[in-house]
Amino acid sequence: MRIYLPSAILACLLLFYACTHEPTSPNGTGSIPTVNTTCSPDSVYFVNDIMPIIASNCAMSGCHDAVTRASGVNLSSYLKIMNYVRAGSATQSDLYKVIIETNPGDRMPPPPRSPLTAAQIAKIQKWINQGARNNSCTSGCDSTQFTYAAVIKPMMDNKCAGCHKAGSLGGNVDLSTYAGTRVVALNGKLVGSIMHQTGYSPMPKNMAKLSDCEITQVRKWVTAGSLNN
Ligand code: HEC
Repeated sequence: MRIYLPSAILACLLLFYACTHEPTSPNGTGSIPTVNTTCSPDSVYFVNDIMPIIASNCAMSGCHDAVTRASGVNLSSYLKIMNYVRAGSATQSDLYKVIIETNPGDRMPPPPRSPLTAAQIAKIQKWINQGARNNSCTSGCDSTQFTYAAVIKPMMDNKCAGCHKAGSLGGNVDLSTYAGTRVVALNGKLVGSIMHQTGYSPMPKNMAKLSDCEITQVRKWVTAGSLNN
């Protein structure tokens, strides 16, 4: 079964959604409490790993956010996402089936957007097979580390580039490349947006604010000259 639904069911779903105003939390977890642990390299975490992928590739404005709900599908919170997940079985989960679909006409995200990367698909598969829990973990973020290659680029790829790369340039900002990231590092928008300063759009959009440690890493990188190091 695909994520697309016949229009009759869709109409019912829309009516149903219209009547159930489920509160959405800023980190997209919905109302189920999050289980917090120290990050283990063997586990995949919803808040740290999965919601950033979904927020930046699926739950954007115009697609599967709580307002647009393209094809009736709302992926803006943990609870909403779980409508398309069979915990413990990626192969039986619509969320997984549509991202590995080889026919471009049926694949999500649809063309001209690029498919999820193999690494992102593997994370979603592993998270579902590990029980699709609403979990999060505290990483060993080290605020004394702030090189572009080891810290900034992976952070941008994970939490920002889905909405800020060629083909989907939110605010005309490209965070998938060093050159594009440097532009907003120099004009102040990078730090302004992640610190939620007045006059800037708060980023990452539709997701939890970056941790204090991550914000410190970005600020230090910018202050040190936003080098390609
Ligand atoms: C879900 C999509 C999405 C994600 C994820 C996202 N952005 Fe954005 N971003 C946008 C859109 C859309 C805009 C255009 C302004 C707006 O609509 O708020 C934007 C604008 C910006 C701007 C310009 C802000 C301004 O005030 O002019 C910066 C800088 C930025 N984003 C940085 C980031 C960073 C850094 C991250 C990751 C930590 C991130 N964004 C994650 C969608 C996103």
